[in-house]
Formats: sequence, C-alpha cells, structure tokens
Amino acid sequence: MEVKFKDLSPERVKTDILILPVKEKGTEEPMIRRLDRRLKGMLSERIKKSKFTGAEGTTLLHPTAGMLPASHLLLLGMGKENEIENDSWRKAAARAKRETTGIGAEEFAFFLSPVKELETIVGAIVEGAMLASYQFNKYQSDHKPPSSLRAITILRPGLKGSAALDRSARLALDLTPGVFLARDLVNEPPSITTARFLGGQAQRHCRGRGLSVEVWGKKKIQAMNLAGLLAVNRGSVEEPRFIIIHYKPAGKAKKKVALIGKGITFDSGGLSLKTAKSMETMKLDMAGGAAIIGAMSRLPDLRPEIEVTGYIPTTDNVPSGSAQKPGDIIRYLNGKTIEVLNTDAEGRLILADGLALAAKEKPDCMINLATLTGACMVALGTEVAGIFGNHQPLVDNLIRCGREAGEKLWQLPLVKEYREEIKSNVADMKNIGGSYGGAITAALILQEFVGNIPWAHLDIAGPAFAEKEMLTCPKGGTGFGVRTLLRFLSTF
Ligand code: BES
Ligand code: MN
Ligand code: ZN
Repeated sequence: MEVKFKDLSPERVKTDILILPVKEKGTEEPMIRRLDRRLKGMLSERIKKSKFTGAEGTTLLHPTAGMLPASHLLLLGMGKENEIENDSWRKAAARAKRETTGIGAEEFAFFLSPVKELETIVGAIVEGAMLASYQFNKYQSDHKPPSSLRAITILRPGLKGSAALDRSARLALDLTPGVFLARDLVNEPPSITTARFLGGQAQRHCRGRGLSVEVWGKKKIQAMNLAGLLAVNRGSVEEPRFIIIHYKPAGKAKKKVALIGKGITFDSGGLSLKTAKSMETMKLDMAGGAAIIGAMSRLPDLRPEIEVTGYIPTTDNVPSGSAQKPGDIIRYLNGKTIEVLNTDAEGRLILADGLALAAKEKPDCMINLATLTGACMVALGTEVAGIFGNHQPLVDNLIRCGREAGEKLWQLPLVKEYREEIKSNVADMKNIGGSYGGAITAALILQEFVGNIPWAHLDIAGPAFAEKEMLTCPKGGTGFGVRTLLRFLSTF
C-alpha cells in the first residue's frame, strides 16, 4: 500500500472515499458546510435525518453523485474532543476500512484538520486501515478473499510530506505483516501448531539480512539442561523445541536486547487438568512466542541498530503416564529448584529456562511475553496486559511504546512480601502461590531467573486472544505485543 501526503482541499481530491473525521457536535464545522454547499445541501439534510452527531463509533456514508471528484464522502464520528487519543485514530481508520469494503473502495483520502502529534496520528491511521483487513478463513469453505487498500492519501491544508511522516507511515506498513503472522500462528489449530511446526515457521519467516534461526531438538535441549521445558514436555508425544532467533544489524550494535516468549502450543493443564470450557481457547498459549516470531520477522526491513535475540521454549502441556506429577522437583541450569505443585502453572516453568539462558549472554535488557495467568485477566480484563519489571525506565519506555501502538499496558507490582507465598518445603520455591495475587506470584517466580539484568514481563493472557470481534481484529489471535515490541526496538 502507498501513503501519500497532499496539500489539497477536500473539494478537489479524486478518490473512492473522502473521509472527514467529525468530533462530537462538530457537524457545523466549516469544512462540512463547504462540502454541503457543493453537494447542494444534501449533506446537511442527511446529517439531520440520520441524527449523525459525530458520536464515537458512528458513521455516515454519502454518495456524492458526481458533485465532487470523490465518489463517496464518509463522515467518521470521533467522539468527545477531550477523549480523542492516539488510538481513536487507529480505530476510526479501521472502522472506515470496514464500512467501505462493501462498496469496493481501493483508496481513501483522509482529511485532517490541524492536530497535535501529526506523525503518530498518521501512523495510527495507516495501521488501523491495514490491521482491519486481516482474515483467517482458510478453514471456511465459503471464504471471500481479503480486500486491502491500494493507497491512503492524507489531506491537510499546508501539509508537506516530511521524513518524520514517511517514517511513521513506513513503520505502520512494515509492522503489519508481523502482526498478521503472529495472528496466523495463534489461529492455526493446536494439532497443526506443534513445537516442531512453530520451529519450522520461525525458520521460514525469519529470513533476510541480519536474521538467523536455530531450532534445538530434544537432544540439544537435554544437553543444554533446559529442565523446565523437558519437565513440561514429558507427558507429550510431540518433541519440544527451543527456538533462537538472532538479529544482527549491519553496523556495530549499540545495544543487545533479549526477547523471551512462552510457546505452549496447547495448554490442557497436564495432570492438573483444566475443564473442557477453559481448554477451548488454549491454542492461544503460544501467543507470546508468536509475537516474538512476528516481530523479529520484520527486523530486516526495520533495521534497528541493536542486536536482538528471541528465545522461545515450546511444547504442548498434556497429561499421560509419563507426564510430570504434582510433587516433582525441577533443577534449573542456574542451580535453582522448583517444586511443581500444579502442572497447569507450566508457563513459568519453561520461561525460567529461557530467562536463565538469555541472562547468561548479559543483554542490556530482557523482555518476556507470556499468556501467563488467568489472574491477570481477572485484574485487567481483555484489553490490557499486565507489565512487571525490575527497572522502572524500561517499564516506562514499554508502556509509552504500547500507548503509541494502541496496546495498553498497566504496571503491576513485584511485591517482595509475597515471596512468602511461593516458599516450598522441599525446594527453593514452588510453582504456585496462594489464592490471591496470582499474576504477581507468577512474576516473582520469573524474577528468580533474571539476576540483575533490566527486565520486564508482559502478562498478555487477556489481550492475546479476542473472544469478541474488534475493529482492528476479528475473533482469535490478536498479535498483541508485536506493535509495542517493534516500536520499542526501533527507538531503544
Ligand atoms: N495459559 C494459562 C493462563 C491463561 C488462562 C491464559 C486463560 C489465557 C487465558 C496458564 O498456563 C495457566 O493455566 N495458569 C493458571 C495458573 C494457576 C494454576 C496457578 C491459571 O491462571 O489459572
Ligand atoms: Mn497452564
Ligand atoms: Zn499456560
């Protein structure tokens, strides 16, 4: 898709859809009056009849019947002025994309009156329009091909293109394939997305300048003593994999970042079996790993000047006669031991391997993404991820990148008093805490494996999977994290 910037008045632009964002009670704005005059008063009449006020989420599509060079006019309700944020633009563009697919629109012209933070808003608009075109329908016999836009033109009086605008639009265009890849990996059925398959997908998609992929099989995992991954894998007929994706910039790397992703391809709970209902969506449990594969697959185009290594321990978590049992103890490569009292708290067991291994390389920071706890979903719901960390500037930076990306992150505390909760009678710690604060006790267990390296943990259990359709994403995997990570990596 192409993004153009033009200093053209809306009356003169030739396009499929001319989009006019309207804030609540803003239907009398000068631009609408001007267009209404050209449309011989028909626009104001439609506005009156349809009771369009500019409320958030409302739209008004008006065919111009040859009275304007644009074939349709779309008024987009933006809601109350003081509630319009960066993500409102992403949602508005996604809504515009959805509303106009039916009329076969291939291009948009988006009119922007003077706004603050123009670059971020342009990025959000391009991203919203792109994200809304995702579909996962290969298993539906009557599926329609996706429709995507050819071009978006941003119109604004006095607007000149600039390097900053281009960069922002470019970033949005460059990162969407990474989001779509992460969504695809989550949406595939769990008997397709096995650990072996995930390794193959990493190899297939993480190619190009600077990228290399290593996929360790069971023997190498044993040799490297990744004890948590082996323990969780014991019940399975599928072999585990440990995926390492490495990106090296062309020039000298300024910094070194490690990304660690939970790659449970299906979480049945193991011997501590889940209920049928709570298993329904458990193919989502590799969403953290998928986000890292998706993000890293875009690095050859984004070319950050830092070294990035992705670590993804992956297996399914299923019961059988050989499965790990409550009461078993795992000894990790950093010497620490965990007593497994609930085999359904498996994410922390495999992430511990990933974190301990990554920490040995002494990166400047480590970020892990995991669909780790139902407790985090209870606390923050389905739109917000929990973020924990031992280094406030890193946490703040990620929250800011998330805000720009339209991915909400909310910090939760690493309450050291709660370490009492994970004390074991026989090992250094146990893998579950008490009845309360489950997201925190899980994070405290991870912290035992990061040493003193700046670290952030994103618990994405809520936003990784959409059980309701969203504007920027159909039901299923959302690719949550890819957009935040790529913004982070391109500015770190
Ligand atoms: N994968 C789940 C967490 C999860 C739940 C993700 C719902 C997305 C939606 C994780 O492995 C798990 O089972 N956690 C347990 C931990 C408990 C046994 C301490 C949980 O949250 O119930
Ligand atoms: Mn589990
Ligand atoms: Zn899990």
